[in-house]
Amino acid sequence: MNFELKPLDLASAAAQKCDALIVLLATSFKPGNDALSSLAAQALKSGDLESKAGSLLSLYCPVGVNSTRVVLVGVGNGSARETGKGVSAAVAAVKSRQVKKLLVCWASAPVESALRSAILAVAEASYVYTSTKSKSEPRVLDRVVLALPEAPKFGAVFKQAVAAVTGIELAKEWANRPANHATPTLLAGAARSLAKLPKIACEVLGPKEVAKLGMGSFMAVAQGTDEPLRFIVLRYNGAAKTQAPTVLVGKGITFDSGGISLKPAPEMDEMKFDMSGAASVLGVFRALADLQPAINVVGLIPACENLSGGRAIKPGDVVTSMSGQTIEILNTDAEGRLVLCDALTYAERFKPRAVVDIATLTGACMIALGGVRSGLFSSDETLATALSLAGESSNDLCWRLPLDDDYAEGLKSNFADVANVAGRAGGAITAAKFLQRFAAKFPWAHLDIAGTAWKSGAAKGATGRPVALLLQYLLTPAK
Ligand code: BES
Ligand code: MN
Ligand code: ZN
Repeated sequence: MNFELKPLDLASAAAQKCDALIVLLATSFKPGNDALSSLAAQALKSGDLESKAGSLLSLYCPVGVNSTRVVLVGVGNGSARETGKGVSAAVAAVKSRQVKKLLVCWASAPVESALRSAILAVAEASYVYTSTKSKSEPRVLDRVVLALPEAPKFGAVFKQAVAAVTGIELAKEWANRPANHATPTLLAGAARSLAKLPKIACEVLGPKEVAKLGMGSFMAVAQGTDEPLRFIVLRYNGAAKTQAPTVLVGKGITFDSGGISLKPAPEMDEMKFDMSGAASVLGVFRALADLQPAINVVGLIPACENLSGGRAIKPGDVVTSMSGQTIEILNTDAEGRLVLCDALTYAERFKPRAVVDIATLTGACMIALGGVRSGLFSSDETLATALSLAGESSNDLCWRLPLDDDYAEGLKSNFADVANVAGRAGGAITAAKFLQRFAAKFPWAHLDIAGTAWKSGAAKGATGRPVALLLQYLLTPAK
């Protein structure tokens, strides 16, 4: 998809030739003397349209407008979130038609984050998965023009949003692929191809190297399958070597059957999405390559399958992690934390300014927050605030949950330093408490994306979250 930013007011937008025109109307809308303004003013006055986010009115060949289809849509207070809502609704209304060239225009100057979320919403609505289809259906929208009077001022945020789209789509692509088309080896291949882009390097470790590092916890998860594990190390070097990097750690379980603690059959296919954290790391690197910011970022992906079989770990097994801590595996389905803990220990060698892990970690987080916000956990106030704000301004929301030590009580084990599960209560938090034991040496945050990384049901598919949040965080200068 091709995005373009053009300096147009409503009068000149009406004169543009396009297949569909979307007009975004905030509550603060003040009509001018042009055709679109008066259409909008009349519709608002009659009550057929409201300025609240998502309220829309579709018009066909209206007088004084060059576009065949016009959708007037409310974007409420004009924030990133409300704009995203409005744009999604409007694109859905024109999408099925023969719309190739789309013009999206603002009736009044937007805030930067609203332009970003409009671009992300258009891309989201028009994405089509192709990888494993024999006939690929073409994308509906191929040219999207964003029109606003003061376009030149928005150059930087425009460029960033377009790069985010590229990253999000790469993340979706990999997360959507079935497990037999997205093995640890294939994921490593995707990371290696990223290293062809400027300033990106990639190193892939296999079973031997991982054993040598002493990643006994990660190896334990991988031992139940014939598919060899991969530990992927990506680097984006945009600044001097002396500048401490931010490390992103993505859970890369390419299929999670639960292992011997087998999951129930219904919807088990969705466990191909259990590498969405890893996919988001790939997506971020793709976007960094486009933007070339002056920062250093490391991406770590422990990738393997979690299957059951003759060699698989058994409930009660005790393993030794790279940190030296021993872990009693009481439930083989709590495998995400077992691969992440060794990656967190590995992160220490980069002397990072911050480490953020991203994982489809717990069903409990999905129950707690649903599909709207990802779970955010952090031992560091500054980092927690930065990630929360990045979520708001990229419209890729998260919500902080607590890390009180009392939640770690249930992780006590009679046979190891720690158990890999506590009871059912507070499951998202106890998982985070487990990870925290391995993240003592740097400012650390954990994003549980179990509820937000993909959609189920008829709209089944990866969302590409939280690429937008992470990118926004990385690109925001520290205060
Ligand atoms: N990948 C799952 C978490 C998950 C489940 C994400 C459903 C999205 C939807 C994770 O590995 C897992 O199985 N977690 C267990 C932990 C439990 C055994 C303590 C869970 O949430 O049930
Ligand atoms: Mn599991
Ligand atoms: Zn899992």
